[in-house]
Formats: sequence, structure tokens, C-alpha cells
Amino acid sequence: MEKIVSLCKRRGFVFQTSEIYGGLNGCWDYGPLGVELKRNLKDFWWRRMVRERDDVVGLDGSILMNRQVWQASGHEATFSDPMVDCRNCKSRLRADQLPLKNDKPQCPVCGSQDLTEPRAFNLMFKTYVGATEDDSSLTYLRPETAQSIFVQFRNVLEVSRKKLPFGIAQIGKAFRNEINPRNFTFRSREFEQMELEYFCRPEQGPELLEYWLGERLAFYRNIGLSDDLLHVHKIPPEECAHYSKGTYDIEFRFPFGVQELEGVAYRTDYDLKQHQEFSGKPLTYFDEETKQHFIPHVVEPSAGVDRTALALICAAYDEETVTDEKGKAETRTVLRFHPRMAPVKCGVFPLVKNNERLVARAREVFGLIRSRMQVFYDESGAIGRRYRRQDEIGTPFCVTVDFDTIGENGPANQDTVTIRYRDSMKQDRLAIKDIPAFLAQQLE
Ligand code: GAP
Repeated sequence: MEKIVSLCKRRGFVFQTSEIYGGLNGCWDYGPLGVELKRNLKDFWWRRMVRERDDVVGLDGSILMNRQVWQASGHEATFSDPMVDCRNCKSRLRADQLPLKNDKPQCPVCGSQDLTEPRAFNLMFKTYVGATEDDSSLTYLRPETAQSIFVQFRNVLEVSRKKLPFGIAQIGKAFRNEINPRNFTFRSREFEQMELEYFCRPEQGPELLEYWLGERLAFYRNIGLSDDLLHVHKIPPEECAHYSKGTYDIEFRFPFGVQELEGVAYRTDYDLKQHQEFSGKPLTYFDEETKQHFIPHVVEPSAGVDRTALALICAAYDEETVTDEKGKAETRTVLRFHPRMAPVKCGVFPLVKNNERLVARAREVFGLIRSRMQVFYDESGAIGRRYRRQDEIGTPFCVTVDFDTIGENGPANQDTVTIRYRDSMKQDRLAIKDIPAFLAQQLE
């Protein structure tokens, strides 16, 4: 994990937020490569979950909502973790994550066992809307994106004219004042979620829970997380939320342990029922066949952008020993991202930078593909070093314009380039005119 955290900083995936002021615990900034990785992930999720489906539409709800939303959803009363204080070093700790010594919980900071009794700590960040700071203006930063979907259920149903089963999807920021943010970006205080609320008839719920579990596992495979790194944990009924009739956690084998990436939960009609009761507004669906009004049930696949991005980096990280041109063994660090997820899709290089014709041709190739995807032009340093720099950030292809390209070695390979594959380090020749189609095919 240390190597991954260091690479993330060195190459610009993730920085500590407000770093020059000493940071802010549990908050992270994504650098030039991290933002591309997250964008690729969110775009692919949106494509699979919304654009390629007839039965799902999107929503982009506000982060601040009427406080009553959080009263109705149960978050104000119960969205808490158990917290204890260490009387010795004053650390605040999550009671359910303490190490044990002689069967008694122990402070992981100083080792003391002099801890207070656990008490509930609400994870929502409070804020005030408007100029007065009192109870009447109090609300919270949303701790999940799901609630705006429930609250807008009626509006979306009316404008989209969907029939059950159908879903509403959303990607957006969520905030939780975690007692112990940890494991890099895994447990943060500010993070992004990708959530789908899939509404259905009550009798469809159990089957759709299985269906969405399958769809979501296929999604993870399609972004390059192999089955041996994924694990499905069926939450025992007694541990499920009281309104859930079944929940699966999709877990990933991180270097720090097997941990949750996504929850897929059958939440029954709990949320819509609560909002109908608290708002006094009907949140029912009219079934034209049976002429009945009823509150739909919902299955919710809820994933974390930051956790999945971290899983992608962990799964991609590899080191191998290779021998350079002079026969010297060296370690090659390579991020083996699926091309769909790779922050940079292709590096474009002139073989040397002191030849105007090579540089001009390489710039032309760069111009040919840059509007379609993230490409990186690099002319500095030996070609081998340029390849290594791209390997380290996971660029799956590199294109080099050489003397054959500009016809200096005869017409046979004129207007072709070498294309070098990150994983095998093998090289082929490819006509310049075929590069866009080749890359598009690899990224599809
Ligand atoms: N609407 C349901 C819901 O929010 P959750 O299991 O609390 O369920 C869903 O959160 C996902 O959001 C998690 O599986 C995880 O990927 C992500 N997530 C939750 N808390 C997080 C945190 N503190 N830091 C990063 N990601 C988090």
C-alpha cells in the first residue's frame, strides 16, 4: 500500500487536500491523472447504467436538501457509529473497530484499555442555510445521494413516463464525518457515490436483487477487476437494516484486507413510504392494468467512486524485472489498467526531438487523436525512458514516429508508426490513418 500511495502522489493521481496547510483528515484532491481515472469510471458507469438501458434515467440532485428529508429517511435519528474516547491519550475511536487485548478493547494509538462507554456519534455534517445560525436554518451535507432520488420520484416518473420496473441513477458527492478516516481514500469524509434506485413491484424485488448483483459484478469485470479479486458477501438477515429484505456487499481484495466496494440492497418500500408520510404528498405508482395505486419497492446498487478508483489502482499495480538494451536488469513499475479506465490512452513520441520533420509528423499524429481521447505528447529523454514513464501511469499504447514514418528508409513503411503495447512491450507497425480506429476498438 505504501508503494501505491507514494506512486499516487508522485505521478499525480491523489494529493492530500490543503497539503500546504497540513492537510485535512479524510479529504483528498485528485490530480491530473486521478481526475481522468475517476472520469473514465463515472462515464463508464453512466454509459452502462443509464445510456445503454431503456429503463433507467438520470438525476443530478443538490447536496443541500430540506432538513425534513433527513428526518424522514431516519438519518437524523440513527445515522451514527458507536464512538469511545481513550481517557489516556484522548483519541476518539470507533468502538466496533478496536483491537482486543485479553478480550478487552484497546486504544490502537496508545495501547490503553481505559476507554469510555460507547455512545452514538451522528455522521452527518451540520450546516446552516441563510444568515441565521439556529435550529430553524439547520441542515446537513448529504451523507448519500439516494435520498434526492426518492424525494424526486414523482417528478421523474411524470416527466419520463416510465413503467415499472424502472430506475433513477445519480453520481455525486456525499459527506460523512467518519470517526476514523483511514486506508488512504478508502474511508474518506468527502467522497462520491454512484447510485441507482430501481423501482419495481413488490413481487419482483427478490429476483431483481439477484439480477442487479449479477449486473454489477459484470461491470467490475468490464473495468478490469478480475473475479479472483472480487468477493460477494451476503449479509445475514439479522445484520441487514430493518427495512432490507436482502443485501449483498461486493468486496474487493485491497492490500489492507477484503473490504466493501458496493452494496446491493433490496430496500422494500421503506424510503418512499417514509417520505410520503413525512411530506404528506403521494409517492405512489398507478398501475393501469389493475387500476391500483401502490408504493413501489426498490433495489439499490450503491457504489463508491473513490473506493473503486482505489481498487483499480491496486489491481493494476505491478512490478516486474526486465532487461534493458544493455543487458542490465531493472524493475519496471507498470499500472495494468484496462484501456477503458487508463487515464492516458496513448503516448505519442517523435523518436528524437532534434529532427523537425519527425517532430512535425508526431505533432500531426497527436492532433489526429487528441479530440477523441486523452493522449500525451512527449519528446524529452531517451525513448526507453519515455515508455517507462507511460508504463508507470498505465498508458496502454505508445505510438512512435520514426525515420521510416517520414520515408527516410524508403517507401515501404512510409506513413506508418510503431505501436508499442504496455503489457507485452511488443511493437507492431500501424498506418497512421488506422490509429484512430485501432484505439477506438481497444477502448470500446
Ligand atoms: N444509499 C446507500 C448507501 O449509501 P453505503 O453502504 O453506506 O450505502 C455505499 O454506501 C457506498 O458508498 C459504499 O459501498 C462505498 O463504496 C461508498 N462509501 C460509503 N462511505 C464511504 C466513505 N466514508 N469513504 C469512501 N466511500 C464511501
